Amino acid sequence: MADEIDDLERVVSAEADAIERSSEAALRPRNLDEFVGQRVVREQLSLVLRAAMARGGTSDHVLLSGPPGLGKTTLAMIIAAETGSTLRVTSGPAIAHAGDLAAILSSLDEGDVLFIDEIHRLARPAEEMLYLAMEDFRVDVVVGKGPGATSIPLTLPSFTVVGATTRAGLLPAPLRDRFGFTGHLDFYEPDELKAILVRSAGMLDLSVSHDAAAEIASRSRGTPRIANRLLRRVRDWAEVHGDGRATLTAARAALEVYEVDARGLDRLDRAVLGALCTRFGGGPVGLTTLAVAVGEEPETVETVAEPFLVREGLMGRSPRGRIATPAGWEHLGLKGPEHSDGGATTRLFE
Ligand SMILES: Nc1ncnc2c1ncn2[C@@H]1O[C@H](COP(=O)(O)OP(=O)(O)OP(=O)(O)O)[C@@H](O)[C@H]1O
Ligand SMILES: [Mg+2]
Repeated sequence: MADEIDDLERVVSAEADAIERSSEAALRPRNLDEFVGQRVVREQLSLVLRAAMARGGTSDHVLLSGPPGLGKTTLAMIIAAETGSTLRVTSGPAIAHAGDLAAILSSLDEGDVLFIDEIHRLARPAEEMLYLAMEDFRVDVVVGKGPGATSIPLTLPSFTVVGATTRAGLLPAPLRDRFGFTGHLDFYEPDELKAILVRSAGMLDLSVSHDAAAEIASRSRGTPRIANRLLRRVRDWAEVHGDGRATLTAARAALEVYEVDARGLDRLDRAVLGALCTRFGGGPVGLTTLAVAVGEEPETVETVAEPFLVREGLMGRSPRGRIATPAGWEHLGLKGPEHSDGGATTRLFE
């Protein structure tokens, strides 16, 4: 029975994911001009692409890193669109064996853009094959098994790898070095998110007031994906309880229903900060212990909640683990330890 419920939940959430993904796709900017914010990355990338096109060749390999929902996949699509190339999509976890990668590489055409999402999760043998392909446009295909196996070198057409990762630190240096350009995406400013929201509302045919857009923007964790998602929830609220327009009242009410607090922390952020303060006395506590306490994978806590909490100054990292800052305690309405020095005092919770 419990299994059945689990299965059902999985089906329902898979469907919800599919709906979310397709509405995301509809709102994706199609070219660099439509892409809001990330001015530095945008300028650098624009230069790389224009220079490649002027030379009539393929662009250098591009690595995009940063927290989820900031536009890595969007930029990969834009790179292909701006250079008029065909986009081929795969991901680190989808490539279980080096042979899978060999098959993808040998099917590429001249000038293709190969997007490898979650590139930090490539298996080692595939990673090594990729070094060679990126540098020399060559792949060694192994034919046969055992002592009779032979390796046949295959020359590839020139192509561009666009890698995306939420954890650039996990990429081995030899792989990182083979990217001619690395763009690090950072959280967006509220006015940039507001511009994204106004554009999205236009595409959704939704009337949104400026103060509502500003309110949603300031509570979107610096993340366009979250801003767009909250906008759709505000639209739901407005359609059910209001006159269909996204007003400030609708925005505030919907954000309350979806448990997004005044500073934009969602349920996971609050769970992490809450566990850190109430169960571990403000830390320092190791990432794994903290993740177990909130029932999440350490990777989720590290890539999703932590970067935002750190940026907001609510949580800090020390060599001995995660610590709650005085602002973190205050945000939860809790009183921190006496003589708090940002949680760096020695405690025995690790
Ligand atoms: N700069 C931007 N301007 C406008 N919309 C954006 C921008 N960046 C992202 N978005 C919107 O946010 C959504 C999420 O972006 P995207 O899928 O590119 O994120 P990601 O970095 O690939 O995330 P993940 O790490 O989870 O794969 C997109 O569908 C797009 O609508
Ligand atoms: Mg992506």
